Amino acid sequence: MKHAAALILAAGKGSRMHSDIPKQFLEVNGKPLFLYSVEKFLTFCDPVIVVTSADALSYVREMIASDGLSGRVQVCAGGRERYESSLNGLRFLAECGDAEYVLIHDAARAAVPGEVIGRVLADTEKYGASIAAVPVIDTVKAADENGFVKDTPDRRTLFSVQTPQGFRTELIREAFGKMMRVRTEHPENMPVITDDASVVECFTDVKVKITEGDYRNIKLTTPEDLPRISGALK
Ligand code: CTP
Ligand code: MG
Repeated sequence: MKHAAALILAAGKGSRMHSDIPKQFLEVNGKPLFLYSVEKFLTFCDPVIVVTSADALSYVREMIASDGLSGRVQVCAGGRERYESSLNGLRFLAECGDAEYVLIHDAARAAVPGEVIGRVLADTEKYGASIAAVPVIDTVKAADENGFVKDTPDRRTLFSVQTPQGFRTELIREAFGKMMRVRTEHPENMPVITDDASVVECFTDVKVKITEGDYRNIKLTTPEDLPRISGALK
C-alpha cells in the first residue's frame, strides 16, 4: 500500500464556462489546465489519478504520455455528479494497490500552491480529514424563502472552502459507502453534496480540520476567472 494518493477530478462539463472544450482541457500558457495540478501533486502523492469523462480518457492518456508522466499517473472514468467522480476514483485507487491517505482536488484549481498541498497532507495524517479553506472576505447573510435577510452569521467563524481535501482512505470510503446506502434505501434523506468533506461530516463522527488554504487557489468557473488563473500560472 502506498502512503498518499491524489485524485484529480477532471470529469466535469464546465457548463458555467461556456467554452467549446471542457475548462480543465483549455490550454493556458501552452499546457492543458489539468496537467498543472497533476505535476504539483506528483511532488507529494503516488499514484496521481486523473478522473475524467469516458470520452476524454484517450486524450488525457496522450497528454500525460507526451508530458513524460506515464509511470506514476493513472487515468480512470468519472461520473455524472462530482461525488460520483470521487467515488469512481476511490474504487480505481483500490485496484491500483491503494494508499493510506487520499487527497482529492479539482482540476479546475490549477494554481494551487504546493505549500497548500503540503499543509493539507500533514493535517490529513494528523487528523484523518482536512480541507484547504480561507476566511470569507464578504459579510455573508442567510436568507429566508422570500428573499429577506434571516440573520448574519459571525464572519470570524466562516470559511470559503477549496481543494485539496484529504482523508484517511478508509474513512472516506466508509462515508461514501453509508451515503450510497442512503441514496438507494432512503433517497429522501440524501443530503446535498458539494464537496467530499460533507460526506465525512454527514456520515461519520470524525471532525474535519480546516487547514490554511490560499486566496490564489481559485477555481476556474466562469470566463472572468481565466485571466487570474493564467496570471497565477505564469
Ligand atoms: N467534476 C468531475 N465530475 C463531475 C463534475 C465535476 O470530475 N461529474 C470536476 C470538474 O472537472 C472540476 C471540479 O470537479 O475540476 C469542480 O467542479 P466544477 O467547478 O463545478 O466543474 P464543472 O462541473 O465542470 O462546471 P459546471 O458546474 O459549471 O458545469
Ligand atoms: Mg459543477
